[in-house]
Amino acid sequence: MTTSEIHRQAAAFTTEHTENAEAFDREALEAAMAGTRFAGKLRFFESIHSTNTHAMAQAEAGAPDGMVYVADEQTAGRGRGAHAWSSPPGSGLYVSVLLRPRIAPADALWLSLAAGLAVHDAVQRATSLKADLRWPNDLLFGKQKFCGILSEMNAEVTRIRHMVIGIGINVNQQEFSPELREVATSLYIETGRQWPRQKLLAALLESLDREVNALTASERSEEEEASILARLEGTSSWIRGKRVYVEEQNGYSGLTEGLDARGFLLIRTPDGLRTVYSGGVREQR
Ligand code: BTN
Repeated sequence: MTTSEIHRQAAAFTTEHTENAEAFDREALEAAMAGTRFAGKLRFFESIHSTNTHAMAQAEAGAPDGMVYVADEQTAGRGRGAHAWSSPPGSGLYVSVLLRPRIAPADALWLSLAAGLAVHDAVQRATSLKADLRWPNDLLFGKQKFCGILSEMNAEVTRIRHMVIGIGINVNQQEFSPELREVATSLYIETGRQWPRQKLLAALLESLDREVNALTASERSEEEEASILARLEGTSSWIRGKRVYVEEQNGYSGLTEGLDARGFLLIRTPDGLRTVYSGGVREQR
């Protein structure tokens, strides 16, 4: 083979394997899911309004525990607090998982926290990058966010009918719109290289399966909750000693002071210790 042939072949290989040209290898993903609650339950969309909206509708229509909805693009991706989630094609990971956990609605926060830990673990396994976790489950590099999780549920007071955990990861976005540029980042921007969404998705679903199993096992012990609290303390720079602004109850500021026994974030304020129930927190400069 001549040098130019070698170069041509190398170029063809690179083109074939650039992330933007990649369609998910569904068979390989299905094979990787064998033995998990997600086996045989992966559904892919080239473009969809929102995988969370779709998953909630499918749940209403009777879809079983473990269904996974993955999209290459979302045209109406949703974030927490009625924000939009930018979801361009060929670059991010947009996935929603449907669960029917036999746990009390009051314990749903544990699943949401565990989802953040699952993504943290998956990103580290797939890329060797160690992210920061902002309570309850945003993933950041420095001050910029690259992953958000929207957990939604349909519940009676004593029973969860279904829960959808929607995960958005900025993987290969090379830039963001001016309004997001300051606050958003991607794995590509952090490392200067593209990452295969396929590998990340497999790692994510493996980690999530493990976390959900531990939290929903009938013999589940308080040790699991203690493990989540300990892992959050070990992973997140936001749990203690961070000056934050809390976007709830007209907004207030304080210093983070750990998690309570149910997983809620505690804030030391001039008026005493307060618990963050629903709002997001952001750093106060
Ligand atoms: C956040 O505001 O941080 C949560 C963002 C969640 C985005 C994901 S992308 C997949 C799923 N579908 C949606 O519409 N939203 C979630």
